[in-house]
Amino acid sequence: MTDTTNTPAVTTTDAGIAAPSDSHSLTVGPNGPILLQDHYVIQKMAQFNRERVPERVVHAKGGGAFGYFRTTEDISQYTKADLFQKGRETETLLRFSTVAGELGSPDTWRDPRGFALKFYTNHGNYDLVGNNTPVFFIRDPSNFSDFIHSQKRRADNQLRDHTIQWDFWTQKPESAHQVTYLMGDRGVPKSWREMNGYGSHTFLWENAAGEKHWVKYHFKTDQGDGNAYLSQADADEIAGKDGDFHRRDLWNSIKHGSAPSWTLHVQLMPMNDAAGYRFNPFDLTKIWSHQDYPLIKVGDLVLNRNPENYFAQIEQAAFEPANLVPGIGASPDKMLLGRLFSYPDTHRYRIGANYLQLPVNAPKSPVHSYNRDGAMRYSNPADPVYAPNSFGGPVADPTAELPHWQIEAGEVVREAYTLHAEDDDFGQAGTLVRDVLDDGQRERLASNITGHLNEVEDKDILAKALDYWRSVDLELGATVAKNFGQ
Ligand code: HEM
Repeated sequence: MTDTTNTPAVTTTDAGIAAPSDSHSLTVGPNGPILLQDHYVIQKMAQFNRERVPERVVHAKGGGAFGYFRTTEDISQYTKADLFQKGRETETLLRFSTVAGELGSPDTWRDPRGFALKFYTNHGNYDLVGNNTPVFFIRDPSNFSDFIHSQKRRADNQLRDHTIQWDFWTQKPESAHQVTYLMGDRGVPKSWREMNGYGSHTFLWENAAGEKHWVKYHFKTDQGDGNAYLSQADADEIAGKDGDFHRRDLWNSIKHGSAPSWTLHVQLMPMNDAAGYRFNPFDLTKIWSHQDYPLIKVGDLVLNRNPENYFAQIEQAAFEPANLVPGIGASPDKMLLGRLFSYPDTHRYRIGANYLQLPVNAPKSPVHSYNRDGAMRYSNPADPVYAPNSFGGPVADPTAELPHWQIEAGEVVREAYTLHAEDDDFGQAGTLVRDVLDDGQRERLASNITGHLNEVEDKDILAKALDYWRSVDLELGATVAKNFGQ
């Protein structure tokens, strides 16, 4: 806010011309009609009509903050990525979000939470766009819009509907692992600060000698154990009282000097282990067992700066999994490959062709690109305007190639992943219920599932959902079924 003790600046039009009044339009006499030459008032009304950009098609409601990531360990044997060299400190932006609700929806609705991180590295922006769970509902990007449609609103009454949610989940049993997380404590975290964040997908790291490892990212919160939750009753009550509960908590804790932090660990799998691993390591509905691939510490993430301007820095922030930097590559995960296309595409639609020139999205490192022009272009490359050229324009660097993997020649098909030894849809969900959750967590899981299923009106879908939970875990299935008299 401007200091109220100083003489305020003179209001101007957006072209910098002084405005004669903040209160009265130009009229013929005090009671007469408004004149078209009142450019200031007309600009004010016209600009107001254009204030909104479309909300994100998913993850519309959120909040975020800036901070830094410091690499504290020597992991150069695994990646040559500059930001992960010991001692390097990189400015970051982290945006948290819910998935299915709209821009004004309550923070405490049951949903996975987004954990979207932008590293402004010395070698361009690196974006890791994950969630507070290590897995996801589906494993093929062709299902994504159908999945989201089943979680958002119906066509006829514009209501969210538990029947269609469970219809989709039971039709796609690979969702069971993520739905177990969703119906458990992580479905309504106590605060964003107390959640873990996961890259979820498998990525590829390459060291300076060209050796490669598959990698999974785990940001463990330093505020507790990552399991702090709100009961369904508390979440419902808070939703009615303070829809911005999580956004407010993050803002206030940073404002009052308590900067939340996370410790980044990775799981690393030698490249050649992938084919023989008991689970398909590229299937986003699966985790890698920590016994098989233990966590290795990398460094610390700290959020210590609130945005100065929410719209400019958070609403217009554009994260894209395709922003990978040298030393870090994608993987054969079909979901990840679909996302490499989807995000830049949605940003061009939602924000505009030149979204990468907005200060929050622009890299801190120099840009020498032949892309040019278009709506709202701010800085434009000079001549020469094409490559290759003989006039000293930028030239590409073959050593900047991101790490890739070898693909066996095969026919072009539409098929599910080839199953690995222990791959199935319900196995890891059952392990989560039996071996990871404690008694209290299991009780709340059964109670949340029951509460959610209470709103399923279609008896056939309810029956399918009860079978789904019996397939996850017989005891859990029996507990839930008993609540429905079955
Ligand atoms: C094929 C699968 C997916 C597609 C097509 C997809 C598509 C999208 C789209 C279009 C947006 C809106 C982006 C914007 O307007 O700024 C979005 C946001 C987001 N997605 Fe996905 N998504 C997919 C899977 C996932 C998965 C698996 C995760 C996490 C592991 C994820 C995490 C996020 C997050 C955190 C955001 C919000 C980013 C922000 O804060 O701006 N998405 N997604």
